Amino acid sequence: MFGVDILVKEHENIKRMAKVMRAASLQVLSGGELITKDFYQMLEFVRNYADKHHHKKEEDILFDYMKKELGKLAQNLITNGMLVEHDLGRLHMRELEAALQSYDVKNNEDAKLDIVVNATAYTYLINRHIEKENEVVFTFGEKNLTEESRTIVDQRTKEMEDSATKEGLQEKYLKILDELEKKYKVS
Ligand SMILES: [Fe+2]
Ligand SMILES: [Fe+2]
Repeated sequence: MFGVDILVKEHENIKRMAKVMRAASLQVLSGGELITKDFYQMLEFVRNYADKHHHKKEEDILFDYMKKELGKLAQNLITNGMLVEHDLGRLHMRELEAALQSYDVKNNEDAKLDIVVNATAYTYLINRHIEKENEVVFTFGEKNLTEESRTIVDQRTKEMEDSATKEGLQEKYLKILDELEKKYKVS
């Protein structure tokens, strides 16, 4: 599997978690139970799988080569577009975490609103972001990077993927994803 194919495959899993986040938020909005433990798991998935595992590969490898090799247009697209959106996602997760902690202590409606808003806003952001990467950014990189750079991007992406596999990272987070999908009846 080529480097970009690994990233596109990961997008599918991140989109699956976004569906879970919407379903769990909808449950709260409809007056159902707010299970903070589940939201903490979603948060952990986003931070460790979507951000540390997936975004790190984009930022350190593919995007890095695109910025170095493809000129001003690629630099703008990545720095002012993709990286800003990665940061916005992190902000939503920090706010989600603060709201969960507040809800655990005070059980208040205000925190409940912040949980639903930040979890849902993240799903909008990440779905749009993924669409842009799949349709514009990755295609642009694949078409325009030199053969040599593409080979290095592929190799390094695969190396990071393999080392995470050895640590059991994908297995751990895909299991959490499966369990939450079942629990919230999303598939
Ligand atoms: Fe990204
Ligand atoms: Fe991505």
